[in-house]
Amino acid sequence: MSSTKPESVINVKTPSATGRETLSITDNRTGRQYEVPIKNETIRALDLRPMKVNTEDFGLMGYDPAFTNTASCSSKITFIDGDKGILRYRGYSIEELAEKSTYIETAYLILYGELPNKSELADWSYNVTHHTFIHESIKKFLDGFHYDAHPMGMLISTVAALSTFYPDAKDIFNPESRRKQTYRLIGKMPTLAAFAYRHSLGMPFAYPDNDLSYCGNFLNMLFRTTELKYRPNPTLERALDILFILHADHEQNCSSTAMRCVGSSHVDPYCATAAATAALYGPLHGGANEAVLRMLVEIGSVNNVPAYIKRVKSGEKLLMGFGHRVYKNYDPRARIVKHIAYEVFDVMGKNPLIEIALECERIALEDDYFVSRRLYPNVDFYTGLIYQSMGFPMTMFPVLFAIPRTSGWIAQWEEMLLDPEQKISRPRQVYLGHELRDYTPLDRRD
Ligand code: ACO
Repeated sequence: MSSTKPESVINVKTPSATGRETLSITDNRTGRQYEVPIKNETIRALDLRPMKVNTEDFGLMGYDPAFTNTASCSSKITFIDGDKGILRYRGYSIEELAEKSTYIETAYLILYGELPNKSELADWSYNVTHHTFIHESIKKFLDGFHYDAHPMGMLISTVAALSTFYPDAKDIFNPESRRKQTYRLIGKMPTLAAFAYRHSLGMPFAYPDNDLSYCGNFLNMLFRTTELKYRPNPTLERALDILFILHADHEQNCSSTAMRCVGSSHVDPYCATAAATAALYGPLHGGANEAVLRMLVEIGSVNNVPAYIKRVKSGEKLLMGFGHRVYKNYDPRARIVKHIAYEVFDVMGKNPLIEIALECERIALEDDYFVSRRLYPNVDFYTGLIYQSMGFPMTMFPVLFAIPRTSGWIAQWEEMLLDPEQKISRPRQVYLGHELRDYTPLDRRD
């Protein structure tokens, strides 16, 4: 690993006018006053616990369904400024990485914190490449799935199954074991995904070709037929590589939170990755790219866009690919994706659905419903159009998200494991159910 020091580390700190980094709280139930330290613009929820009406009280808690204003960890991996539309991995802007890096290099950066030097990159690529093969028995699991099984279901199941092949993965506090599982997970995810795809077509599996790049090999395993040597189209290979860079991490999103939460029970990383992949599958998260395309097909023509937007505004539908919990500005990834779309269309022909997507975006960016709620296109709005043009069926779209996100999941998992402040994830609840009551025998119930 490179020993270069990061140029800057973000300190979340707004200067205090009084010089006091504390919050004064008066509990009006008791009249008592408390002074709570503020660090990194946060207060510790546990500092609320001493605030009680009487000694039997449990003490005050924060109530934050869906964690909309709760930091569950500190992290040095990914920085997002949702108001300004900024995304950085380890301090590097997403725009610069998309232009100059490769997915495999970016994955190293995300995992180990620094860009690799030449020999580190060569070792890393070699190790990932030499873990692309999967045990032959995995093919038997795949054979058990229906021909029309969703590939995300197959991916979730087969990633979990890897846990049974690598019992050494349970040694999660051994850095060597973690390193090995990292090679395996990043190396094998494309193979599992491609095999799931081939199974759905009833085609023989195409084995990894270690001479090709990470994305080139993935395209080989997906699309190779009778060629002795598969040669990926360089524009499509690079487009996929950039899309993989854009999807590699996104701080504490739903699937990364699932990875940390499940991993906090100290289960092995394959099971935790299966949980994260399951979280990604939902249409409000990584399944949105598939949902966007289904929506564009349903809209059918540019003329139908205003009527569809009307249904969205009445609350009947969501405009899929729009809105984000964190971005209240244009998602910087969506801008890059829109650009790549045209490069792919130059090779594969224009996807006719792009006109419908552009019209949705045009209307939404001017309409008060979307403007007032600060709803902008997110990364998923245009990716489906690219994937479809590249020949992927819609069901593969979330899979194309899961493969690159694996590097982010592992980085988040490892950071959680090594953080002395972390414990098993276990939120509290506000119980609003019955008080203690007597059991009613069956013959006396209404
Ligand atoms: N279409 C129409 N209205 C929307 C949309 C949308 N896509 N997204 C949010 N809104 C509305 C909500 O109805 C709500 O309106 P209200 O204030 O009148 O009740 C308001 O905007 C705020 O939305 P919330 O649902 O509170 O925002 P939240 O942060 O909880 O949800 C989410 C974010 C899930 C991404 C949401 O915007 C959504 O469902 N988008 C569509 C699905 C999608 O594209 N998901 C991909 C996200 S990116 C990713 O995971 C890679």
